[in-house]
Amino acid sequence: MIQKCLFPAAGYGTRFLPATKATPKEMLPVLTKPLIQYGVEEAVEAGLNTMAIITGRGKRAIEDHFDISYELEHQIKGSSKEPLLDEIRSLINQCTFSYTRQVEMKGLGHAILTGETLIGNEPFAVILADDLCTNGHDSVLKQMLEVYEKYQCSIIAIEEVPKEETYKYGVIAGNLVDNTNDTYRVTDMVEKPDPKEAPTNMAIIGRYILTPDIFDILRETKPGKGGEIQITDALLEQAKKGKVIAYKFHGQRFDCGSVDGFVEATNYFYNRMEA
Ligand code: UTP
Repeated sequence: MIQKCLFPAAGYGTRFLPATKATPKEMLPVLTKPLIQYGVEEAVEAGLNTMAIITGRGKRAIEDHFDISYELEHQIKGSSKEPLLDEIRSLINQCTFSYTRQVEMKGLGHAILTGETLIGNEPFAVILADDLCTNGHDSVLKQMLEVYEKYQCSIIAIEEVPKEETYKYGVIAGNLVDNTNDTYRVTDMVEKPDPKEAPTNMAIIGRYILTPDIFDILRETKPGKGGEIQITDALLEQAKKGKVIAYKFHGQRFDCGSVDGFVEATNYFYNRMEA
């Protein structure tokens, strides 16, 4: 049973400067809730209760968010505002949160490797909180856990993107498996390919289930695109052994690491609140 969820949250968030100069990108709110809280809620809905968060300098607000604020609680106790803290309080009660710092920002693969001390030798989920996912029924992570139960190997969530946007994503090639129309065994993966070189338009989004051998592979992975240690390069090693399944998830994803995606998410959740 998978119980741990890793949240790499050490990136600089340069696309949101100056907002992210002293505030973690993961704490930017869509309506009244920070991005990382949506991520933790998704993990809880999927049945996970152990949150492992990779932070960096200037990210302490994340730790404070998942902690009791005694002064504030005392101040609003018994008032109409008290229920506003219900959701976060329930998360704090249900989950444990542990943190480790990525001292140098050497890429997502490196951030995941930094999480080894918190994860240990067991399969685990990864959520990139700036990819905000929503679905009316089962959350994306919950869908992926079902796929993991069946295949018992690394699972990555994918989405079809316009071909001209492949340069923003890890892109896969693969073969449909088991008469499904949404599950592929991955045969190739390329990090941020030029549209002319992209094998397909199937892009990896910020949800993964990884088997723990990924840590040994990451230790050996050389810096790739952009001089960063890329999780895509490490996953390719597993894929060569037939050990990576890509799953076209049901639901909607907002790229809240970009201003356009963030505004779209805000409008979407606002309209849903109104409805
Ligand atoms: P991004 O590519 O979105 O980078 O990282 P970023 O620094 O967060 O944002 P921009 O591009 O400068 O605006 C994808 C995810 O990987 C994490 C980020 O926190 C984000 O969740 N990450 C990236 C790390 O934890 N460490 C790294 O060294 C790089």
